[in-house]
Amino acid sequence: MKILVIGHKGQLGTDMCNVMKDAKHEVEGIDFPDIDITSFDSVASVVSLSKPNVIVNCAAFTAVNDCETKQELAYAVNADGAGNIGRAAASIRAKVLHISTDYVFSGVAASPLVETDPCEPQSVYGKSKLAGEIALAKELKEHFIFRIAWLYGANGNNFVKTICRVGRERSVDGKALRVVDDQFGTPTWTVDVCRQALQVIGTSHYGIYHCTSQGECSWLEFATRILQQFGIRAKIEPCTTNEYPQPAPRPAYSVLDNAKLRSLALDVMPDWEESFDHFAAQIKASGVWN
Ligand SMILES: NC(=O)c1ccc[n+]([C@@H]2O[C@H](COP(=O)([O-])OP(=O)(O)OC[C@H]3O[C@@H](n4cnc5c(N)ncnc54)[C@H](OP(=O)(O)O)[C@@H]3O)[C@@H](O)[C@H]2O)c1
Repeated sequence: MKILVIGHKGQLGTDMCNVMKDAKHEVEGIDFPDIDITSFDSVASVVSLSKPNVIVNCAAFTAVNDCETKQELAYAVNADGAGNIGRAAASIRAKVLHISTDYVFSGVAASPLVETDPCEPQSVYGKSKLAGEIALAKELKEHFIFRIAWLYGANGNNFVKTICRVGRERSVDGKALRVVDDQFGTPTWTVDVCRQALQVIGTSHYGIYHCTSQGECSWLEFATRILQQFGIRAKIEPCTTNEYPQPAPRPAYSVLDNAKLRSLALDVMPDWEESFDHFAAQIKASGVWN
């Protein structure tokens, strides 16, 4: 298949290109400013030239806190952008795999959320991403939407990199690293999402999928494992969300259940600890984060 990855320089987009190429697909990647998904004309001209069978949209305005003050841009990229991609795909009869987020949920649930659970985003980022799901579905029936969460990978900034950097600083200055222990989710490796995408894009099982690793933890538990795996000897202490206020509210509980993938016998997402250990081993062996 020919696959066009939009946002191919981002954290997920980089691995999406690599994994799709390894699976012998023909892959073309594009990113801002060579494409601006807020403009239908920009998307349409790229898509009509590329003529892919599948468009994978990894592009988004992902700075969650900045979305609170840049609402117009957040909606232009995350909502209109998804709609523009759907409309352009329809014109060449391509499918779209679009990436969404656990932030479409309020965070008040007490057990893992399935695809049909009601959405109630609390942040501008979450609201704009939900609007993107709706805009895409309105333009194109042949779409897959992966709601992912707590993403990390070798490229770009993420929680793992931050904990490694701050952890190393704390191991020198002797101060404790404070991490919230009252927010729960599932750390998910970019490469696993890409491998899961491979299982789905060839099918006609369209719609919304929850796509995270199995299991759950708090940010504190995740940070503890990061320090262990990277051999960083820093003191670590719990704190509450209230003690670490952020401009955009985060869901307190956003564990996703990959119910649709499971029901179709397509779920290849591994346990989060097993996956993270594998990722950490790769990063340490490559030395890229040293
Ligand atoms: N990171 C997470 O923890 C997380 C969790 C759940 C869901 N997600 C979703 O997963 C997807 C991938 O996230 P990521 O972490 O890989 O994001 P990322 O690293 O921020 O990459 C996003 C890419 O989109 C590009 N982009 C921004 N505005 C654009 C525009 N108008 N037109 C074209 N490209 C544009 C960015 O370019 P610039 O760098 O030039 O802006 C960047 O290359 C997103 O849909 C995100 O909402 C992420």
